[in-house]
Amino acid sequence: MEKTFYITTPIYYVNASPHIGHAYTTIVADVLARYHRLLGYRTFFTTGTDEHGDKVARAAKEAGLTPQEYADQISEQFRSLWPRMDITHDYFIRTTDQNHVKTVQRILQNVYDKGDIYFGQYEGLYCVGCERFYLEKELVNGRCPDHHTYPEVRKESNYFFKMSRYQQWLVNHIETHPGFIRPERYRNEVLSFLQEPLEDLCISRPKSRLSWGITLPFDENYVTYVWFDALINYLTSLNYPDSESFRNFWPAAEHLIAKDILKPHGIYWPTMLKAAGVEPYKHLNVHGYWNISQSKMSKSLGNVVKPLDLEDKYGLDQFRYFLLREMVFGLDSNFSEEALIQRINSDLANDLGNLVSRTLSMAEKFTNTEVPTPSEETAGDLSLKQTASRTLESVEAGFADLAFHKALIAIWEFINAANKYIVEEEPWSLAKDEKNRQRLGTILYNLLESLRVIAVFLSPFMPATSLKIGEQLGIAGAAGQDFESIKEWGGLRPGNKLKKGDPLFPRIEMRQAENPAAEKVPLPIKPEIPYEEYDKIDLRVAKVVKAESIPRSDKLLKLTVDIGETRQIVAGMGKDYKPEEIEGKTILVVANLKPVKLMGVESRGMLLATDAEGGGLTLVTFDKPPEIGAKIR
Ligand code: MSP
Repeated sequence: MEKTFYITTPIYYVNASPHIGHAYTTIVADVLARYHRLLGYRTFFTTGTDEHGDKVARAAKEAGLTPQEYADQISEQFRSLWPRMDITHDYFIRTTDQNHVKTVQRILQNVYDKGDIYFGQYEGLYCVGCERFYLEKELVNGRCPDHHTYPEVRKESNYFFKMSRYQQWLVNHIETHPGFIRPERYRNEVLSFLQEPLEDLCISRPKSRLSWGITLPFDENYVTYVWFDALINYLTSLNYPDSESFRNFWPAAEHLIAKDILKPHGIYWPTMLKAAGVEPYKHLNVHGYWNISQSKMSKSLGNVVKPLDLEDKYGLDQFRYFLLREMVFGLDSNFSEEALIQRINSDLANDLGNLVSRTLSMAEKFTNTEVPTPSEETAGDLSLKQTASRTLESVEAGFADLAFHKALIAIWEFINAANKYIVEEEPWSLAKDEKNRQRLGTILYNLLESLRVIAVFLSPFMPATSLKIGEQLGIAGAAGQDFESIKEWGGLRPGNKLKKGDPLFPRIEMRQAENPAAEKVPLPIKPEIPYEEYDKIDLRVAKVVKAESIPRSDKLLKLTVDIGETRQIVAGMGKDYKPEEIEGKTILVVANLKPVKLMGVESRGMLLATDAEGGGLTLVTFDKPPEIGAKIR
C-alpha cells in the first residue's frame, strides 16, 4: 500500500498578525512534510486561518472594518508569509470558505440527526460591554478584564453537544493507543482532565449576540461555536467525505499544535469525530511555548517577535535552524537574538560554513574543479563513512520521537567529524608531492561526498542551504534526492563540475543585534506597591575597593565593596566594564538582598545599573560622592 502522511497546523486566528510562535509550528510542519516526501511518502500539508467568533468580530470592530474585510486582510498576511518562510503547504484553508461552511453544516446535521446535539440552557457570567460570557478564571478579581465591571449571571438557550457520552470511549482510546497524544506529559494532562466528569459542550451562539459565524443547519437563529467550526477544517482540507484524498490521508493524520490548545484537540475533537462516525486522528503532537527573554510574548509587553524581521536580518535558513535546534519539542523555550546570533556564528558560520568553503577551495585548488575519483580506503575514511551511517540512524530516530534538536545534533556530529578529517588528513601537505595524487583525490572525494550527504540531511530543515550546497557540488538540488541516496556511500559522481559559491553564512557581529526585531515599546511600569514594601529595600552608597574577573566567565566580576562594612558582590558587568574601570567608583548597592552563589562565588548584595538599549550596562554613580554607607531614601 502507498505510504501517506497528512500534517496539519492549527488554523491561526485572524485577530493578530503572525509572530514567531505561529512561524515555529508551521516550520515544524514543513520540516515534517519535507522529510516524509524525502522518504517517499505521499504527503498532504495544510494550514490556514480561523476567522469566525467573537474575538475576530471585536478586533474588526476596533479596526473599523466589517469582520469579513478584517479577516481578508489578516488572512492575507498569513498566506503571504508562508512562501517567505519556504513553507510547502498543499492547501490553505479559511473558515469563511464556502466548502468549509458546507462541511461544518453537514457534520452538525449528521450529529444532530443522530441525537447527539440537544437544546438546553446555559447559565454563566456575562459582560454586557463585551457581549460575551466569561469563565471564572478569565476574570480579574471577579471583574471583566476589559471593562473592569462585575459580570452579571445570565441564562441563555443554546445547543449542546453530548460530549459526556464519549468520555469513557476516549479514555479507553487514549489508554490503548499510547502515542495518540504525545509527548507523554500532554497525554497525562488529558487523562487527568478526563478523571473528572466531562460537561457537554455548548456549540452555538444566538445571532442576537454574535452573528459572525456559520449558521446552524437546524436553527437559523444561531451560529456555530468557533471551536466546533474550526476543528472541522482538518476534514474540509481533505474534501471530506467522498474524496480520494480523505480516504488516503485521513488514516495518516498528524496534528501539530502548542500546549495552549490541548483541550479542544485532545478532548473536543476526538469526541466530535466519534459522534460524526469518523475514525480518530493518528497522532496529536504537542509542543511548548516560545518565551521572549524569559517572559510570555504579548502585545501589551511589546515583545512580539515577527518572523519576517528575523528573516530579513539574519536569513531564513538561519532562523529555521535556530527554531528547530533550540527548542526541545514538548518543552518551553526561550528566544533571544543573542542566542540566535550565537548559533549562527558557531554552528552555521564556523562548523558548516567553513566545512563547505574549505572543501570547495581545496577541491578547486588541487583538482581541475571536478569531483575526483576515489581509490583505496584507509581507516580514517572508513570511520568517516561509519559516522555518516550512524548519523542517518540518529536522524531517523530523532524524527520518530519529534526530537528535532537531536537530529540536528547528530548532523552536526557528522559535520564536525568531516572537519576533523580535514585536520587529520592534511590534504594541503599531501598536495605538495605529486606521488600523493591518488590519496589526495580520495580525501577530496570523501569530503565532497560528505557535503552531499549533509545537504540531503539538511534539506527538510534548511532547504535553500541544501540547494546551494548541491549547486556547488554540481548536482541539481540535493534536496530533490531521497534518503535512499545516502544509505550507500559514493552517490556523488566523479567528474562532476564543481562551482564554489559565496560563504553560506556571514558571521554576525553582536553589535548588529542593537536593533532587536521585537517591536520597541517602552517597558510598562510595574504594578504599584505600598511604601512599606519599598521600605524593605536597604539601599546603600558603596565604594568599589577591588574588582577582579571570575575565571571561565566573561560576564561576571567579583567586587569587594565598602558599604560601611566590607562586602563581596558578584556583578554581571564584565562585558561592559573592565575591572580597572570599576575600581574606585562610588556606586549604589541593595544591601539586604539574600546571599546567592554565582559560578560558585558568594554574592552578598547587588549593585544598581541600567541596561540601556543595545548600549550595554551603565552603572548608577553619583556626581558628588556622598558618605560611604549612607542610606538612600
Ligand atoms: N484558532 C485557534 C486554533 C484552531 S485549530 C483548529 C488558535 N489560533 S492561534 O492563532 O491562537 O494559534 C495558536 C497556535 O499558534 C498555537 O497552538 C501554536 O501553534 C502557535 N503559537 C502561538 N503562540 C505561541 C508561542 N508563544 N510559542 C509557540 N507556539 C505558539 O488557537
